[in-house]
Amino acid sequence: MAKSKTAYVCNQCGAEYTKWQGQCDACGVWNTLSEFVIEPARPGAVKRTGYAGAAQAKIVPLTEVATEAEARTRIGIGELDRVLGGGMVEGSVVLVGGDPGIGKSTLLLQVLGALGERLRSLYVSGEESLAQIAARAQRLGLALEPLRCLAETCVERIVDNAQKDAPRVLVIDSIQTIWTETLTAAPGSVSQVRESAARLVRYAKETGTSIFLVGHVTKDGGIAGPRVLEHMVDAVLYFEGEVGSRFRLLRAFKNRFGAVNELGVFAMSDKGLREVPNPSAIFLSAHTGPTPGSAVMVTREGTRPLLVEVQALVDQSSLGNPRRVALGLEQNRLAMLLAVLHRHGGAAVYDQDVFVNIVGGIRVQETAADLPVLLAVLSSFRDRPLPDKLVAFGEVGLSGEIRPVPNGEERLREAATHGFLKAIVPKANAPKHSKLNQNKIGEMEIVAVERLSEALDIVR
Ligand code: TYD
Ligand code: MG
Repeated sequence: MAKSKTAYVCNQCGAEYTKWQGQCDACGVWNTLSEFVIEPARPGAVKRTGYAGAAQAKIVPLTEVATEAEARTRIGIGELDRVLGGGMVEGSVVLVGGDPGIGKSTLLLQVLGALGERLRSLYVSGEESLAQIAARAQRLGLALEPLRCLAETCVERIVDNAQKDAPRVLVIDSIQTIWTETLTAAPGSVSQVRESAARLVRYAKETGTSIFLVGHVTKDGGIAGPRVLEHMVDAVLYFEGEVGSRFRLLRAFKNRFGAVNELGVFAMSDKGLREVPNPSAIFLSAHTGPTPGSAVMVTREGTRPLLVEVQALVDQSSLGNPRRVALGLEQNRLAMLLAVLHRHGGAAVYDQDVFVNIVGGIRVQETAADLPVLLAVLSSFRDRPLPDKLVAFGEVGLSGEIRPVPNGEERLREAATHGFLKAIVPKANAPKHSKLNQNKIGEMEIVAVERLSEALDIVR
């Protein structure tokens, strides 16, 4: 019989080593290796990495592969269907991550409630008792008959039950509580989570069952331990949101069946998560009049433009090394933008503390935020509000040029719909087709700029 062996696995990236070491060579993070005893696979058990039943694979040209449109089911929760790329795909495995208490269990229970009698479903809970789930379902006002639950944490027994019961949709809440008999490592450890998830992915592909896996996120943002899960599943959705805010954002971080960065917006109410179908309004804070340090941008998350407010506070620093704090924005990008502002905009902010915040707990990852961030910073620096009803977007380059961003017209239309009167945009993003109305959409005047200095002249 083969001996069991010890392996050291990185909690961050899942890389394996035979000896302990302080730093992971694969991802460069310190002190993340933990020890696991890996039992030899039992006779007859599937090999660790291969798929079961893949006895002899054959090479085929793609022209001979029968294609079928993926079978999608609309869940009936519009914002979730949008994030999934138009509904739930048969046989897909979706990982739903987020901080504890953000609403993962609530959302998935609502999913099963919305599916109702249309698709047979099973909710497997390793965290809450069946009584707790029933109480929550009642509070959410769901019809209880189609909801069926199983309190189980052993993946082999879950699969056995599922094989007998044949649900079309399976929810596993949460993957961190699930363990497999083939390993002796503790539940929640990287190897347990990875093996259990692999078993479930295999089950989904073999039977065409759609599976939702719930995963908790650690403080530093990785789904506890197994970043490797992200590679195994078809889609990864993250719940984001500010502590204390009732809005919850569901973002597609990876999606084999739809657009990434697609954003679904929900509000937590006493009846569970409610959809917010027109979310632009919630990311604009309600000022009574023009305020210094506030600028509005149009970001495009996934396939939908969104109006978002950027706030900046610039203040004389008492530190030798002034603070640069970016919330909802990348820190390094802010440092770079401030350097460009100094060099090409003539604003000396090097001795100032700079704080930038994106309102509503949203995280903006695209470069279209560059120009509005600089406008907000400059406005706070001068303590002078930007013109009323002004909106802006555009990437700022190191030589002070303003570069275009994708889908300019769509962004402009969203801003015009919400009553903005002036837009500062990159030259290539200004509408071209109608010569007569070149610098207007509806009531909104469009000012195209090529250099940062031109943009700053407009708001002087
Ligand atoms: P939950 O779904 O249990 O979070 P997770 O599974 O991500 O850990 O969310 C629970 C939180 O949501 C809890 O703080 C209470 C709140 N909540 C409501 O405000 N309204 C509701 O109808 C429900 C069910 C929960
Ligand atoms: Mg939960």
